[in-house]
Amino acid sequence: MERMMKTAKKILLSGVQPSGRPHIGNYFGAMKQFVEFQEKHSCYFMIADYHALNTVQEAKMMRENILALALDYLAIGLDPKKSVIFKQSDVSEHAELAWIFDTITAMPFLERAHAYKDAEAKGKEVSVGLFNYPMLMAADILLYDTDVVPVGADQKQHVEYARDTAEKFNRVFGETFKLPEPKILPNVAVVPGIDGRKMSKSHNNTIPLFAEDAEIEKLVMSIVTDSASGIPKNVYEIHKLFRPEAGLDSLYQSKAGKYKDLKEALITDIKTFIRPLREKRKELAKNPGAVLKILKAGGEQAKAVAEAKMKIVREKVGVRLY
Ligand code: ADP
Ligand code: TRP
Repeated sequence: MERMMKTAKKILLSGVQPSGRPHIGNYFGAMKQFVEFQEKHSCYFMIADYHALNTVQEAKMMRENILALALDYLAIGLDPKKSVIFKQSDVSEHAELAWIFDTITAMPFLERAHAYKDAEAKGKEVSVGLFNYPMLMAADILLYDTDVVPVGADQKQHVEYARDTAEKFNRVFGETFKLPEPKILPNVAVVPGIDGRKMSKSHNNTIPLFAEDAEIEKLVMSIVTDSASGIPKNVYEIHKLFRPEAGLDSLYQSKAGKYKDLKEALITDIKTFIRPLREKRKELAKNPGAVLKILKAGGEQAKAVAEAKMKIVREKVGVRLY
């Protein structure tokens, strides 16, 4: 009944690959909005483990990463009572639909994907999985009649692939899929890392979202400070995520040139913000069984929706005989 009532709301789906510790850039750039969306949308938040299999090819690490991401999701406030929290591999229909999409998609169309082109340009060996990545992501999105897909700008092209694939399928086999809209998260938060470049796991310049106090102190003290005006730009840019800009400006003016004081103020603010999240995550981590139960239940909810959609898809392509 509850889900029936929810269908009046717009359907939202997003996913994150279980590929490492999230940082404050991920949080302010993407994850924070997930929490806010739960109030007004019918949400699916997915752990994209089959996507991550392109890079994480060690079973123990995969298991740990999946549980870690589930803990991250729950600790920031994703709520299994409001949203479906699940992992992709629990719903085999994703892989099945991706195959069907492969059959109606031309190679040159996929050759235009940024992720593939970048990997090629770097001379990496590209797996078929990486090449087909946009088709699996299209299946993730289209199986649930998704209206909105909140993603960072880097993922916009993938949502466009999902739209194009829905259109192609509808043209070939008749109206079946809803066209999803990307919702590009506001770019205000391009959070700089401690070296001043964009904060990114791949730059090794992050402040992890669930960092311990000592780690926060060490990382903030090592933020590169280059400033002509006495206002250390990188410190300020990170600080404004944690404190309203009005109060911040007067602090930075009164302490102009006093980098140590400013960094200490930032440390205090980050600690205050992170502590409750970190404590909540630790509490949740004490009972991994309960987290797995949430994932399993979410998988069952998602599976029921995906199964119903796949019946229609099989009917449309003509393989459903009984
Ligand atoms: P990373 O570069 O650390 O590997 P991901 O590519 O996994 O990060 O990013 C996941 C999401 O987090 C992206 O969709 C993006 O919106 C957001 N994000 C990542 N880094 C930043 C940043 N420095 N500032 C703002 N948002 C970010
Ligand atoms: N490709 C996304 C990323 O790397 C993760 C993802 C997989 C996703 N399936 C999705 C995001 C469906 C939104 C919708 O960040």
